Order: sequence, then C-alpha cells, then structure tokens
Amino acid sequence: MAGRGPRAVLRVRPFRRLYTALVLSSFGDWLGFLATTALAAQLVDSFQGKAYATGGVLVFRLLPALLLGPLAGAFADRWDRRWTMVVSDLLRFVLFLSIPVVGTVAGRDTALVWLLIATFLVETVSLFWIPAKEASVPNMVGPERLEGANQLTLIATYGSAPIAAVVFAGLSVVSAALGNGFDYFRASPVDLALYVNAATFLFAAMTVYRLEIPGGRHLHDPDAPQQTLLASMREGLRFMGGTPFARGLLVGMLGALAAGGAIIALGRLFAESVLAGGNAAYGLLFGSMFLGIALGVALGPKALGDLSRRRVFGPSIVGAGAALTFMALVPNLFLAVFATLLVGGFAGVAYVIGITLLGLEVSDEMRGRMFGLVQSLMRVDLLLVTATTPFIAGAIGVREGPGGISINGVSVVLLTGGVLAMLVGVLSFRQMDDRPGIPLRTDLLRRIRRRTERSYAGTFVALEGGEGAGKSTQLRLLETWLRDQGHEVVVTREPGATAAGGRIRELLLDPASQLSPRAEALLYAADRAHHVAEVVRPALERGAVVLTDRYIDSSLAYQGAGRALGVDEVARLSQWATEGLKPDLVVLLDVDPVVGLSRAGDVPDRIEAEALDFHERVRQGFLDLAGADHDRYLVIPADQPPDQVLARVQERLSGVVHQPRATSAQLPPPVPVIP
Ligand code: TYD
Repeated sequence: MAGRGPRAVLRVRPFRRLYTALVLSSFGDWLGFLATTALAAQLVDSFQGKAYATGGVLVFRLLPALLLGPLAGAFADRWDRRWTMVVSDLLRFVLFLSIPVVGTVAGRDTALVWLLIATFLVETVSLFWIPAKEASVPNMVGPERLEGANQLTLIATYGSAPIAAVVFAGLSVVSAALGNGFDYFRASPVDLALYVNAATFLFAAMTVYRLEIPGGRHLHDPDAPQQTLLASMREGLRFMGGTPFARGLLVGMLGALAAGGAIIALGRLFAESVLAGGNAAYGLLFGSMFLGIALGVALGPKALGDLSRRRVFGPSIVGAGAALTFMALVPNLFLAVFATLLVGGFAGVAYVIGITLLGLEVSDEMRGRMFGLVQSLMRVDLLLVTATTPFIAGAIGVREGPGGISINGVSVVLLTGGVLAMLVGVLSFRQMDDRPGIPLRTDLLRRIRRRTERSYAGTFVALEGGEGAGKSTQLRLLETWLRDQGHEVVVTREPGATAAGGRIRELLLDPASQLSPRAEALLYAADRAHHVAEVVRPALERGAVVLTDRYIDSSLAYQGAGRALGVDEVARLSQWATEGLKPDLVVLLDVDPVVGLSRAGDVPDRIEAEALDFHERVRQGFLDLAGADHDRYLVIPADQPPDQVLARVQERLSGVVHQPRATSAQLPPPVPVIP
C-alpha cells in the first residue's frame, strides 16, 4: 500500500488543516492576480496605458521579493509560525478588501495608485506567509512523507490556477447579471471577485488559527545571543555559498525555473512569429507546460523510486534544457506542444526534488531562512527572465541569416536559454553527485530493471562495515529516528541474535576455537538461517523496520574475500540459508582498517585478531560488493561526524522505508532481540 504518497500525507490531521489553508491562499493568489490585472486595465482608457498599468501590477507583484525576500525568511524563523501565517492572512484580507473600497470612494487615479501599493503590500505579506508555511511542513509530516507533502503543495499551487480562472470568469458573469439591477456592479465589474478573494484569506486565517504547529516556537535557544536580521540573511547566503550541495541545488532550481519562465514570457510571440499561430496556439503551449509541471510533480517521485535524488536532480534540468532547445529548433506546433510538455515535466521533477532535498538536509533553524532566500531568488529569476527576454528577442528581431536562413529573435533566445539550462544541469550534477565514478546510465538501467514487488510489508536495512566503523552508534540513532516516526523498529545483529545463535557466536569469536574457513562460513550461515526464520522474517511480515548489524555481505566480505573462499560460493550458501531474503538497503560504513581496529576493544576476538591484510581484503570486498550493486548500497566514509552520516542515511531511507501498516496499538509487542 502507498504509505508515503499524497493520500497518506493527507491523513496527517494537522497537515490536512494547513493544506486547506494553503489551497485557499493559492486560490486567492491566482484570483487576486486575475482580478488586479483586470482592474488595472479597467482603470485606464488608452491601449498603451492599459499595457503599462497591467505591466505595473506585475512589476509591483514581483518587487517585494527583490527587496524583502530573505528578510521575511529570517523573520519566519524567529516568529511563531502559526501567528505569522494568521496575521499574514488577515492582512491580505484587509488589503484585498481595501482595493474596491478605495476605488469606490476615490477617483480613478487614486484607485490605480492604491491598487499598485496594495499589490506591493499583499506580496510583501505573502513573503512572510510562505517561509512560515514551508518551514512548518517538515515538522508536521516527518521526513519520509516530505516528498508527498511537497507534491501536494505544488498541486495546490498550480492546480488552483485553472480553478481560479473559472471562478473569475463565473464571477464576471454574475457581476454582469447584477449590473442589470445595480449600478455598482456595472461600474465596477471586478469588485465582486476582489470581495470573494478577500473572504478567501479570511477563511485561510481562521483555518490556520486552529492549527497546532510543532516546533514553531522553541526553535531558538533563549540564551543564545540574538542575531541581527542582516546577519542571519548573510548566514543563509554563506551557507548556500559554502555548501556545494546547496549551491548546486539552488543553481539548478533557478535554471529550471528560467526555462519555464522563458516560455511564459515568449510564448505569445513564439506562437505568432514562429508557429504562425494565434491565441489558441499560445493557449496550447501555456496549457501543456502547466500540464507538464503537474505531471512531473505528481508522477516524478514515484517513477524515480529509490534512485538517489541528488543524482537525478541535475539530469532533470538537462532534460528541461534539451526540450527547450528542441522547441526552439523545430517550428512545428505539434512538436512544440510536446516539447513544452517535456520542459514542464522535467522542471516539475527538478522542483519537487529540490524542495524536498532542502527540507531534508537543512536543519530546522536554518530552514526558514533558506526557503525565504530560495523563494526570493526564484522570483528575481522569474522577474529577470520575463522582463528581459521579450526585449532581447525584439532587439534581435526577424532577419535574414547566412545562407538565406531566416533568424527569429524568439527562437534565438529560447535556444540560448535551452543550452544554458543544460549547462546549469551539468553543473548541479557535478556539485551534488553522491556516487561519483558510477555512471548514471547504470543507475537508470538498474532502476528500470529492478523488481519492486516485495513479499513483505516491512523494510529491511543492513548496516555493514569493517571493525570499528561506528555501526552501533548509527543503529541507535536510526532506531530513535524511525521510532519517532511511528515505525515498529527491530534492532538485531549477526552473529548471535537468537538463543542458538548466541552459542554459535561464542564458538565463532572465541580465540581458542580452531575453525577451518569452510566451517566458519557454514556456522555464520547457520546463525543467519535461524536469525532470518526466528526474527527477521516475522518482523518484516508484521510491517516492522528491521535494522540489522551485519548480514549476508559480512559473509561475502569476511569469508568470501577475507578467507578467499570466493564471493559467489559464499553468496550461494547465504542465499540458501535465507531463502533469498535480501535487504532493501545496505549501508556500508567504510573505514580504514588501521583506524577501525584501533577503536576495537582491548581483547581482540578471533576475527579482530586476524592480520591487517585480512582486514584490507575485507574492506575491498565490501567496496567491490557496493560497486556491483549500488542500487541497493549506500557507501558512507565513516570518518565523518555521526550526525552527518545519519543525515545521509536518512535521506536515502526516506525513499525506501515502507509506512507502518497498522497503528502501534494493533501490533504485537516488539520482540526483545539483543541479549
Ligand atoms: P561482533 O562483535 O558482532 O563485531 P562488530 O562489532 O564488528 O560487528 O563480531 C562479529 C564478527 O564476525 C566481526 O568480526 C565480523 C565477523 N563476521 C564474519 O566474519 N562473517 C559474517 O557473516 C558475520 C555476520 C560476521
């Protein structure tokens, strides 16, 4: 059953409430967009005046992000998030209400000036609302459902646009009908939409008011020295600049957005001058891009499965760039519609991955600043693209190129944009790749071939590594993290997790035991067979997350490579012992044996007492295994601080862990496993 998808996320009650508010606000945003631009055009008579007035509204909408974006993000981290949202919504309610009211009591000029000011203020307020909302989501749904939550957020943001358009049209019809009886509606046909819009924000405020947002208040240690806002903004920027990962993410998101923005800005010109079409062609292009974004956001995460998100982020931007390039080169309506669908789709995938990674990898107290920063940079990006591209295209114009080819400014700009987006994608990939050296193709092929059906409901994770790699620390941290999310967690180990296994373990590790390599391999396999039958399988069938300290790969590395029995032979043995049960994820903590052995206890056991070159072979054995099946392995150098190791594992696990099938009250009590 789908445990992490949007539907499961909506079962989280506080999130559902927040989501209602979000849907209302997004709807209000689009309705406000349509109503304010329409009103601007209505307040001026000349054609040029109308163009400037509506253009002015657009500029005033985007301006606050330029001036205040990062500031708002910093505030979102300092203020109580719930109150930030409630007050923002109330302010937007009042502002939207004021637009028609001022229009009624004052002249048209004053009305236009106030419209621009109010637009600016509404957007300013939204800047505070958004980071407060974004920063609240991870605490409400937990990391493994963050992707689903982000999908929902994006669906609300873009899905509400067509609904708002329909409602706007409907209200215009109603307003026209009322205009027959009431002069007011004849004189001000947009006002009804503005009133409805104001009401939307009032409802949103009431919804958020009843919410409880975890972690909203106690983010900052009261004893910590108070930072100035500018300092925390600078910190956000420095964090971005100093972390290749965050930098790659940001550059990529801006690139994907620019590709989409170029289509929005140039779509009308493109349809007319390149495709020789009209508004219908423009509508098709516009619609297919939004459809593409929706599809990318909705289906992308599922299609990607457990592929490393860091790895597919860059390539999805390359995809968007390639589609844009293709569109610029082929003057054909059908192909252009298909290309815009792809641009939207790839951009949507990149966007949902980007937001998810930011939410996962940026710590709670930085998150508001980060989202604030990202938010405003994206708006600036969009502003620059929409404001400059039509002028550049116009300046190039349509001219005769070498060899009699006709060169169209729109195509030139789109082509350049496409190529730039591809470069940006490659750059992001380079900075974020978490498995350098492994060709992306291999990953993708594995994803396509991979059989995803599992016969059990739980999730099986093995921690592997040489001596002293820090497995126990990570096991403890992971156990806590997963428990906090409501999973039944079974922590176990090999050898020796069962009563019989305990005796086998004594035999195996006692320095006094004289064991031939094959006997040793068989004893480990015997312990494993019993362990799987008694502990692992039953837990997985209950739906638990099983974390085991060592599993098959230890035998492959220690007996297969270390004792030189041959990895394949030992694999066959373990396969028989476990009836083919393989972990969903193997986390390999890679450590230099010299370092690792120095961390081991005073009295070495029989295996620890082996010579250094044995341990070197074991290490290489593990690395070879990981290299051959990286779909299932996560290799982490163990010399990093434990919390960094944990973050990497969490990121990967969030694509792997199955949701709890039942509430914990219905589950049998967990079996005590480790003696
Ligand atoms: P243990 O004390 O559990 O070691 P660690 O804390 O390093 O996990 O001892 C297990 C030892 O058994 C360890 O040295 C690795 C070895 N081993 C094998 O050689 N083959 C196997 O299949 C398994 C499971 C462990």
